[in-house]
Amino acid sequence: MAQLNLAIVGHVDSGKSTLSGRLLHLLGRISKKEMHKNEKEAKSQGKGSFAYARALDESTEERERGITMSVAVAYFDSKNYKVVMLDSPGHKDFVPNMISGATQADAAILVVDGSNGAFEAGMKGGQTKEHAQIIKSFGVKQIIVAVNKMDVVGYSKDRFDEIKHTLGTFLLRSCRFEESSVCWVPLSAMDNQNLVSAPCDERLLSWYSGPCLLDAIDSFQPPTRESEKSLLMPICDVIKSSRGQVSACGKLQAGTLQNGLKVRVMPSGELGTVRSLERDGSQSCSTATAGDNVAVTLQGIDVHHVRAGGVLCDPDVPVAFARHLELNVQLLDGAQPMLAGSQLEFHIHHAKEAARVVKIAGLLDPKTLKVAKRSPRCLLAKQVAVVEVLLQGPVCVAEYSKCRSLGSVSLRALGNTVALGKVTRVIEEQK
Ligand code: GTP
Ligand code: MG
Repeated sequence: MAQLNLAIVGHVDSGKSTLSGRLLHLLGRISKKEMHKNEKEAKSQGKGSFAYARALDESTEERERGITMSVAVAYFDSKNYKVVMLDSPGHKDFVPNMISGATQADAAILVVDGSNGAFEAGMKGGQTKEHAQIIKSFGVKQIIVAVNKMDVVGYSKDRFDEIKHTLGTFLLRSCRFEESSVCWVPLSAMDNQNLVSAPCDERLLSWYSGPCLLDAIDSFQPPTRESEKSLLMPICDVIKSSRGQVSACGKLQAGTLQNGLKVRVMPSGELGTVRSLERDGSQSCSTATAGDNVAVTLQGIDVHHVRAGGVLCDPDVPVAFARHLELNVQLLDGAQPMLAGSQLEFHIHHAKEAARVVKIAGLLDPKTLKVAKRSPRCLLAKQVAVVEVLLQGPVCVAEYSKCRSLGSVSLRALGNTVALGKVTRVIEEQK
């Protein structure tokens, strides 16, 4: 069965963790005992409505604040897929964590809060649009829009249509999703309507005859995998055991891994040997292929050489390590103009560096991507341009055309994502 890495994204409090927890519960991934414990503890904290979210929000701080802070990974099986669910934080402060999850996604569920005022808050100044733009720019082409909390609006068709119209226009026109790749599902995570089976509430049943959420997930096109290419695995996390062993965790983006294989760990350039592999959280296996989420235990390498933000690659085909890059970027709606000299935060796979724009080489026509104006003085909101950036320290990087996950970037300033783009050229490699 194919694996599907599914990011759950959307504005804060739209119900992503509740939806994820409900799905896991309905599909038998949470025991009765565990659910009972979650309900009891949530109630005693005065956060009874967060019982399902607790399955994903596992840290004390997340539970006390009732918000997700880091991406939680959970697993379930649908008819067609082994689904790896990446429940992302919606809060503005944790967009960098959301980005790190988005780089691993094959498809996404964009959750919006359908209740009056909340959908509008997510659209205006909220994270609904930002998340949609981020996942699209990272190469996710297929999405489900889960219009959640329909219970609050009495399962109103008019409200659903209004949301579909407003957000749909943005997704198709500004983000450039294909209409046929966006599936709209009205539901209630709290009331368990339209999640894993057709709704039973008459008010929804009277006008909705489309797929339930689980069937919509099964309708995603299988993701293409790059198993034939050379090994690339961006390191998301590093686990060091008390016995001095080190494991690198992340999504295998290209190639295959097997026990005994020699790998080069960038940026240190040191070699290590795969001692053991785990897939889907804890299942040990002897091989893994592109698309798999794995933990790779390495031997023959000093633990200090294995770092989050680094990349595992083929010993003969090391990934570039560079500070000076050419990018193709789009400045987002509402962002301040970008000038040569602008200081930004540069995010790429699981790495982050301070960056300075050194040159705006040319403005591009957003439709044809042909140069419309050479050397403009600045880049304005919604414009697309070729820019050169210089990073404070080097990062592992590949051209987007060679590997989308190692070539997708986001630029942020003062806690906001200001531009999204692709690496088009590595100008100077670090030796
Ligand atoms: P962040 O991860 O912090 O961005 O939030 P989230 O999107 O994961 O939202 P979460 O699941 O934590 O839910 C936020 C609140 O919305 C909780 O109080 C939930 O009980 C409530 N909620 C979630 N789904 C529904 C729903 O379908 N109907 C109603 N009425 N409330 C819901
Ligand atoms: Mg959450």
